[in-house]
Amino acid sequence: MAAPSMEDLVSLCKRRGFIYPSSALYGGLKGFFDFGPLGVELKNNLKKSWWNAMIYERDDIVGLDSATIMHGDVFTYSGHLKTFSDPLVDCKVCRSRWRADHLKNGQCPGCGSHDLTDPRPFNLMMKTTLGPIDDPSAVAYMRPETAQGIFLNFKHVYDSMNPKLPFGIAQIGKSYRNEITPRHFIFRVREFEQMELEYFVRPGEDDKTHAYWVDQRRQWWVEQGLDPLKLHSFSQPKEELSHYSKATVDLLYEFPHGAEELEGIANRTDFDLGSHTKDQESLKIDAKVEKNLHAVQRLAIKEATDQEWIVPYVIEPSAGVERGVLAILHEAYTEETLSNGEKRLVLKLKPHLAPIKVAVIPLLKNNPVLVNCAQALVSKLKRLHLGWVVYESTSSIGKSYRRHDEIGTPFCLTVDFDTISQSDNLEQHRTVTIRYRDTCAQERIALEDVPQKIALLLQNFGDAAYD
Ligand code: GAP
Repeated sequence: MAAPSMEDLVSLCKRRGFIYPSSALYGGLKGFFDFGPLGVELKNNLKKSWWNAMIYERDDIVGLDSATIMHGDVFTYSGHLKTFSDPLVDCKVCRSRWRADHLKNGQCPGCGSHDLTDPRPFNLMMKTTLGPIDDPSAVAYMRPETAQGIFLNFKHVYDSMNPKLPFGIAQIGKSYRNEITPRHFIFRVREFEQMELEYFVRPGEDDKTHAYWVDQRRQWWVEQGLDPLKLHSFSQPKEELSHYSKATVDLLYEFPHGAEELEGIANRTDFDLGSHTKDQESLKIDAKVEKNLHAVQRLAIKEATDQEWIVPYVIEPSAGVERGVLAILHEAYTEETLSNGEKRLVLKLKPHLAPIKVAVIPLLKNNPVLVNCAQALVSKLKRLHLGWVVYESTSSIGKSYRRHDEIGTPFCLTVDFDTISQSDNLEQHRTVTIRYRDTCAQERIALEDVPQKIALLLQNFGDAAYD
């Protein structure tokens, strides 16, 4: 099957309630999208999977949720005010504005003219003012990366949790960038979420830890269902590195518009902790009184065996949630012809990412006994907190299966006359049909075994049925 185009994905997302253009009633707002009932589930499941891998499956990383609007000085010392910019050009003919490094042959994509201004840096940060007085002291910024919130809380977390090096602080949250040309659906947007880890190590341990995280992150994306052959590592050349980075490896994925960055894994050295420590020193605190410096958050640590204060180095795997969702949808989108010649569209999502885990369908929607039995099964499954379980009676069985194939529901349970058989009152003699999305295989299982079976299937998401 040919890989789906971006149009295929946009159309599915809108039709089935994954992703809508934002502010659409008022003509839309470029670079902003809203996640619908299915999209928010997919996104939350992806974030949950990342959080599990970072926090619950390890014992050297803790979480954080810091504010999205930050003090203006943060970005002076982080270097973002000076350097976080893209090259902007104006077309002198049609007056449109473009990112210089996105142009082909120096030509305006709007009117084709070559009459463009010289590129000049355009800072991508979004500025706001706080409180009723609009003066320079009221200026704050919407964070362009979640990372700064981690660096600013480094000492708080260190003092309250007493971790030992190496350790990490992980955060998922919104970031904002005033992109000059948002494009490729949710690939390049102005408001997005990042899943970022700042992993602190002793200086000298940084290179090998960097390589370790590149490996870990690649493996994690494969576990989310991405084809390893479509994931490529790219070491950024020196001249392209961000101002804070000693080395960055990008994980590129083959998106519909080409192979582009899904996640970046950077060695930020002691740049950030060092820069924010300078800020404290500039407040003219007595540099000789080390204790005082510590108290005012010198961003350094001294463990029992250390003679000197250490400013840890940091390795940062930073992934975009929207780019993750786009890659996963692209990978899962499958058009196929079944053995009976029927064509279908199926979203082969890993079950742990699927928005709806189970749909329970009565064979006849106007038979009260079947309906009651199906609804009772839904209630029972809901109590297990396996994720979203739905009762489905909007159309015929065949149409319900097609709809759930399209939105990626891994399991459909059909309640029929064998489920409600009165000949024997025992639940184990009553059966339901379980249908597997990817193979269309169906099997009958005892009604009483359903909760355990579904829980097991979801738990073993690498189960043979879905490998
Ligand atoms: N803290 C490091 C940092 O922010 P980055 O390479 O600028 O590094 C990290 O961004 C990730 O955030 C990218 O790999 C991408 O997945 C996501 N990202 C960055 N800008 C984005 C945008 N405008 N729209 C969607 N995702 C974006």
